[in-house]
Amino acid sequence: MSTDGPGLTFVVQPGGQLAGSLRVPGDKSISHRAVMLGSLAEGVSEVTGFLTGEDCLCTMKAFQAMGVRIEQLGPTHLRVHGVGLNGLKAPGGPLDLGNSGTSMRLMSGLMAAQTFETTLIGDSSLSKRPMRRIVDPLRAMGAVIATTDKGTSPLQFSPAASLKAIAYDSPVASAQVKSGILLAGLYADGKTEVREPEPSRDHTERMLRGFGVEVEARPGYAAVQGGQKLKATNIEVPADISSATFPMVAAAIVPGSDLLLEAVGINPTRTGIIDILRSMGATITLTHERMLGGEPVADIRVQGARLQGITIGGDVVASAIDEFPAVFIAAACADGVTTVNDAEELRIKESDRIAAMCDGLTALGVSAIAKPDGAIITGGTIAGGTVDSKGDHRIAMSFAVAALRATGRITILDCANVNTSFPGFVALMAGAGLRIQEQAPR
Ligand code: S3P
Repeated sequence: MSTDGPGLTFVVQPGGQLAGSLRVPGDKSISHRAVMLGSLAEGVSEVTGFLTGEDCLCTMKAFQAMGVRIEQLGPTHLRVHGVGLNGLKAPGGPLDLGNSGTSMRLMSGLMAAQTFETTLIGDSSLSKRPMRRIVDPLRAMGAVIATTDKGTSPLQFSPAASLKAIAYDSPVASAQVKSGILLAGLYADGKTEVREPEPSRDHTERMLRGFGVEVEARPGYAAVQGGQKLKATNIEVPADISSATFPMVAAAIVPGSDLLLEAVGINPTRTGIIDILRSMGATITLTHERMLGGEPVADIRVQGARLQGITIGGDVVASAIDEFPAVFIAAACADGVTTVNDAEELRIKESDRIAAMCDGLTALGVSAIAKPDGAIITGGTIAGGTVDSKGDHRIAMSFAVAALRATGRITILDCANVNTSFPGFVALMAGAGLRIQEQAPR
């Protein structure tokens, strides 16, 4: 599925305040993994709270194309008829993973181990994203993979004689890389180990355990012994903290706001945004903490305040990696300077998020100076104007939220990809008080 093209425009009137309670859609990372592991399991798994955003639908369609029966029982309810580790079938053609880096990097680990050929392709953004980070360790395991000269997709997988376990010291903290290697490790001889410079999200490790696989895991390390079977299980997907970030920041930047976000995943590898907003002065309270499908969740109450600029870097970066576009908006609304360091990974997301955010903030009259690994943002007045989301869902949603504190209307171009992670964003946010409308492409 491709979402390329000029797409949709958001028009957001200035001012307003968010109030009430909201439940944002299901977690994208967990939804992808639920389809993948459910497909590889023996038996039938049900998934509730599934994110029916385009990224996860790409994963679902890819597994259907490889012979897995997946029934959609309700808007967010799937029944996955697992085919077992060796039950996938050759698809009829290339698997189109749209905009989804998670699908491509995790599935690379699985495709490397199949006895048939596959080709993974994506939209223009995904086709530019670096794949050597996953292809190189898989090749070290014995996988046969062809990429473009630039190390990008299309990725062509040919059957390998066998895969052998590796102990991999990853140069990046990337859950996509770690997970792709661990999934290949299920098919390898021996124990596959991954070490990371900082802990990345651990949903794969948790969910593999839920499917009965023994996994060794501690922050910065994960290992799996090959040859273990997955047993079907039911998965309840919590609300996505990365989607909850937009209403959280929207409430945090407007003094007097008071918003409750329900049943949000608070896996400690994902909660950097809570730490960052609290450091900036927002009041964030977690209640009703509980476990849902092997993952911690809570209701999150956010009360707005006058925020202060801070310096962000180090370990918190990995645990808030998808949240930086919204953090840049919080920084623009804060008193003083916010400096973001150690976040060079932002340059290779769905867009170059450092450039996209600094360009957009500059267009709105805010001082935002890009650095190779982050930015220096001086809080001040946000003017009205037009910004280009560069087709990146999180850039579009961040600038929509900025309108709450702007002095004029903000128009955001190229917003169709919001549907990759947050279907229903406009209606949900408008219902809570954001003055947002969408304009269909002409
Ligand atoms: C994801 C990992 C992160 C994150 C992405 C989802 C995952 O990417 O940015 O949105 O589900 O494993 P990296 O592994 O590149 O850090």
